Amino acid sequence: MATERTLSIIKPDATRRNLTGAINKKFEESGLRIVAQKRIKLTLEQAQQFYFVHKDRPFYNDLCSFMTSGPVVVQVLEGDNAVSKNRDIMGATNPEDAEAGTVRKDFAESLEANSVHGSDSQENAFIEISYFFSATDIVG
Ligand code: CMP
Repeated sequence: MATERTLSIIKPDATRRNLTGAINKKFEESGLRIVAQKRIKLTLEQAQQFYFVHKDRPFYNDLCSFMTSGPVVVQVLEGDNAVSKNRDIMGATNPEDAEAGTVRKDFAESLEANSVHGSDSQENAFIEISYFFSATDIVG
């Protein structure tokens, strides 16, 4: 199996409810290592740029506004097949479709306030990690 890195964001709905530790516990118990992490408040410009791929979707403005509504925790997760493993741990984007034991099933409030974001491919993981972290920030 390939060791990969992926970008994770613990979203404002989860930081507001003090769930950072509970979510990190799921990552660590599943074998992912948190090799970089910081709690920040996104500016509207940062959120718009991060989600630029969704700029033509009807939910784009609300999503960017939600992502700036409180602190987020951006993190780099490392491990075997980290991109797909993290997506398994997160569960389906819509918490109504998420499987038992996943982050979104256990914690998400709605499709928008779905507690976590994770990169959807290795290629996007590179791009998203470099958006928040430089190489020296990441300690494997
Ligand atoms: P995320 O993985 O962060 O990527 C884009 C986000 O848009 C997604 O999680 C959801 O929180 C949010 N979103 C809001 N509405 C929708 C929708 N109809 N389809 C997909 N994503 C949506």
